[in-house]
Amino acid sequence: MKSQNLDELSRIVDLNKIESAKNSINEANGLPNECYLNDEYFKIEKERVFFNNWIVVGVSSSVPEIGDAKPFDLMGTPLLILRDKNNKIRVFHNVCSHRGMILVNEECKLKNTIRCPYHSWSYNFNGELIATPHVGGMNIHEADGFIKSKSNLKEVSTHIWMDLIFININKNKKNFEESIYPLEQQWSKFISKEDQKLIRHAKDFGYFNMEVQSNWKLAIENYCESYHLPWVHPELNRVSNLKDHYHIEDLAETFSGQGSNKYSQQFDGNKKLSTFPNWPNDLYQNSEYVSLFPNVMLGIHVDHFYAFWLEPLSNNNTREHFEMYYVGDESASSDEYKEIRKKNFAFWQEVMNEDVGVIEGMQKGRNSPVYNGGNFSPVMDTPTLMFHKWVATNLTK
Ligand code: FES
Ligand SMILES: [Fe+2]
Repeated sequence: MKSQNLDELSRIVDLNKIESAKNSINEANGLPNECYLNDEYFKIEKERVFFNNWIVVGVSSSVPEIGDAKPFDLMGTPLLILRDKNNKIRVFHNVCSHRGMILVNEECKLKNTIRCPYHSWSYNFNGELIATPHVGGMNIHEADGFIKSKSNLKEVSTHIWMDLIFININKNKKNFEESIYPLEQQWSKFISKEDQKLIRHAKDFGYFNMEVQSNWKLAIENYCESYHLPWVHPELNRVSNLKDHYHIEDLAETFSGQGSNKYSQQFDGNKKLSTFPNWPNDLYQNSEYVSLFPNVMLGIHVDHFYAFWLEPLSNNNTREHFEMYYVGDESASSDEYKEIRKKNFAFWQEVMNEDVGVIEGMQKGRNSPVYNGGNFSPVMDTPTLMFHKWVATNLTK
């Protein structure tokens, strides 16, 4: 299987160039241009990077009530996100077992069933096929030899963490708890597992999305390094300077990023947002920003958390979804904190907008035949190389 996989990849891209990303930082080159430009490569990446790992496809608070359903197109693969009768988020392949019709085309509220619009086969919220009208001829709803249970919907492994909906399409990944353990350890100095339950999606100023003309990987690469701060984010750099940042590199290589020692809470007059209850006083000015591989960028602060997750649309087009969270209902919803929410949202939206020019510029740069995948600063670029190495390993294993 491995050599077959490598054959397929080697038809598109020089494998030595992919292997080079696994070298030590002085020897390494980054992933080659084909990994950002080639349509065939994009399909391979979908299988090996997106289907083989836990990835983010949405947030559970966007389907808040039982029966809320939302289609999601994962790089051409139709999925359906649904809140079932037990309040559990489920993700199914959004395709009817009969003639392959798409089941749900747009966001909606379902009553009791997922009914196919073509011949009305219906599935309950567990994905079981429960009604097949006229399947045995006019007014005969059962048929000899037709076993309904063989036609249930195909469900995807799903786990909710910090409101994020993670899925593993190929069901081949170790369980989610194990996968997220390194990041929970990294953040155990700030929050406990219990504290995770306190986050609430902001009632207003809580979401935006934008489309960038860039490969999804460039957003991740840009996010995990602080090197660009002085030039791309001059405002941010004034309050949280490059020198106040440190690298974050997971030993298990599931995430990389940066932390700051200079976070200061947003305020409105003398009002401040609620804080995580177990966050130590001496770490109030610490905040951390990590790219959790492959497709979500996270930021944690004493008084808010955000997730910026990526929906790859093609090799050079990505939709970025930003989700803002606060600690407890008051901070997330009450009018008292509205001004702070507004200010905080505008701040992050501005920062994320400032990155668009460089993400898109790097994409354009990858059309140059002389670009060799990149050389790295041995000091400033270690988090970026960790991500390249992770992608290269996923492609070649
Ligand atoms: S395709 Fe869905 S019922 Fe026929
Ligand atoms: Fe940035």
